Amino acid sequence: LKLTGLFNFRTDSVLIPTSYFSQRQCLDSEDDLQQLQSDGVPSEVTDWLASTFTQRIRQPPRGVDEKPKFRSIVHAVQAGIFVERMFKRAYTAAMPDQPAAVVNCLRDVDRWSFDVFALNSTSSDHALQALFFELITRYELNTRFKIPISCLTKFLSTLERGYCKHNNPYHNHIHAADVTQTLHCLLLRSGLVHWLTELEVLGSLFAAAIHDFEHTGTTNNFHIHTKSDLALIYNDRSVQESHHLSAAFRLLQDEQVNIFVHLTREEWM
Ligand SMILES: *[C@@H]1O[C@H](CO)[C@@H](O)[C@H](O)[C@H]1NC(C)=O
Repeated sequence: LKLTGLFNFRTDSVLIPTSYFSQRQCLDSEDDLQQLQSDGVPSEVTDWLASTFTQRIRQPPRGVDEKPKFRSIVHAVQAGIFVERMFKRAYTAAMPDQPAAVVNCLRDVDRWSFDVFALNSTSSDHALQALFFELITRYELNTRFKIPISCLTKFLSTLERGYCKHNNPYHNHIHAADVTQTLHCLLLRSGLVHWLTELEVLGSLFAAAIHDFEHTGTTNNFHIHTKSDLALIYNDRSVQESHHLSAAFRLLQDEQVNIFVHLTREEWM
């Protein structure tokens, strides 16, 4: 079964990550499972999930009432659908007016051998924009979190400009695209993506994209010993790293740029 194959569970060794279930948004009733089934999940899959999960759940890590919960099964099926959707998705999600060569490069986005420099050239030096847009839309995070496309494009172009600010030959937007693509591969190929909520995937991709924002190309030690502005602001502590985060979150202060504008307060936190 394709879907069960995607799960990659080893029932003999895997521990059900209870935190995964408890963190996911709860569905209210068994009706939701019914709905999912009619959405095209084969009954073998739900049966398999049911037997797998109820077995494990019978050995509760905590002493609470641990009857098989349909909710848990629903969540597992949902996770499967989420991954399945990503795999199935045709490569149609490229940014508007993206040259065919860019779309072609992005076909390899699930591979370790992905060529970020080829993406840079074909996208006329906009590797980060092209890549981040592709991943956000492939994971369907833009619809899930109602990210306005105008915010996303503005955020990405502002982000890229920041990466270019110091003409950094290494820690630039191409590096950010490279790290973001590698993170995507890690999530996907390790199966880790099955254990994360959509919010966690969004958070991870965002973190990868901003992680060296406005890097000066010098070390923290250099900042400290030259008593740079950043060293003074951050009191010599994780000078660059503090700046990457602070500056990136500052971008989101602008409503036109804030891709998280429709997140709830809790999701934002
Ligand atoms: C990225 O692409 C631009 C435009 O095609 C090119 O001028 C630049 O040399 C490329 N950078 C790298 C590191 O390949």
